Amino acid sequence: MRAWRVHELGDPSQVMSFDEVDRPTPGEGQVLVKVRAAALNFPDVLMAMGMYQEKPPLPYTPGVELCGEIVETGQRVIGSPAGGPGAFAEYALMDAAAAFPVPDSMSDEKAASLYLTYQTGYVGLHRRAHLQAGETLLVHAGAGGVGTAAIQLGKAAGATVIATAGGSRKTEVCTQLGADHVIDYTTEDFVPIVKEVTGGRGADVVYDPVGGDVFDKSRKCIAFEGRLVVVGFTSGRIPEAPANHLLVKNYSVVGLHWGLYRKYDPSVFTETHERLVELVEQGKVDPLVGEVLPLGQAPQALLKLASRDTVGKVVLVP
Ligand SMILES: NC(=O)c1ccc[n+]([C@@H]2O[C@H](COP(=O)([O-])OP(=O)(O)OC[C@H]3O[C@@H](n4cnc5c(N)ncnc54)[C@H](OP(=O)(O)O)[C@@H]3O)[C@@H](O)[C@H]2O)c1
Repeated sequence: MRAWRVHELGDPSQVMSFDEVDRPTPGEGQVLVKVRAAALNFPDVLMAMGMYQEKPPLPYTPGVELCGEIVETGQRVIGSPAGGPGAFAEYALMDAAAAFPVPDSMSDEKAASLYLTYQTGYVGLHRRAHLQAGETLLVHAGAGGVGTAAIQLGKAAGATVIATAGGSRKTEVCTQLGADHVIDYTTEDFVPIVKEVTGGRGADVVYDPVGGDVFDKSRKCIAFEGRLVVVGFTSGRIPEAPANHLLVKNYSVVGLHWGLYRKYDPSVFTETHERLVELVEQGKVDPLVGEVLPLGQAPQALLKLASRDTVGKVVLVP
């Protein structure tokens, strides 16, 4: 079978090759799946560069979420490849207990996009930030994979959603997804706008995949008893929050590493998947697939993601 492999750390558009490799053999508790669609995630870029917390031994096949067909049964499932990355290939292994069935009505591309970013969003907003109906949610990078999921999940939870994004194409995407207020944070300062639309109160929950200056500014427009969820650092700078600032404003900075539930409580994945399927069936969640490309174009697709040039999810199809 063909599989992309990262042979040395660096820019994923340069260090990957499309190799002919043996089809993997399932171990105990695993299933072999024929990949039908694999979705891109920012961590694919960071991992190839050696800048992610997970550092698989080289060479490795990238790709952390997929929709595939179990070879033995023909059942269509979504999830992550077993034991780490491996989705950018014609076949992959999955842990049988973490291969989740998807509604027949969903396309392979949308199904592949329902896993990592939506699970992260659901766990982040509900389990970590305890978002309540009627609260205000501020979502940064709202047109990205993580951001589009958070806007839909915030609306589904009954929150008022303010979204930020870079450029008019992306702000338009946020509006179409149902965000109540949208700010182009590359041209406008979001702090006074968030204060204004919340009547001076600020956002109850901030969902931040960007970090850097965006995190610093978010601390200026967070509400009393607000929760600032640390999702990622696409800006490239890991920010800091002085403890005295948390004290004087009564807010919390909440860490989110969704993948850690695999170690501490895998039942979270199953329960979250069930909630997400309910939301799909109610029409409240519908993953935005911005682009579908052939598997052979994985390096170009990752380059687009790294250069801030994508909306929603980018999906590769073998
Ligand atoms: N904590 C967790 O468990 C978890 C799980 C999944 C993902 N994540 C993290 O969430 C973040 C988003 O992941 P994603 O896959 O959904 O990516 P994405 O949002 O589709 O793409 C990243 C977005 O970040 C924004 N951005 C701001 N500054 C940037 C810069 N200097 N370079 C590139 N992008 C920049 C861009 O939106 P604008 O142009 O609108 O600014 C870009 O579209 C990543 O940091 C990822 O590691 C965390």
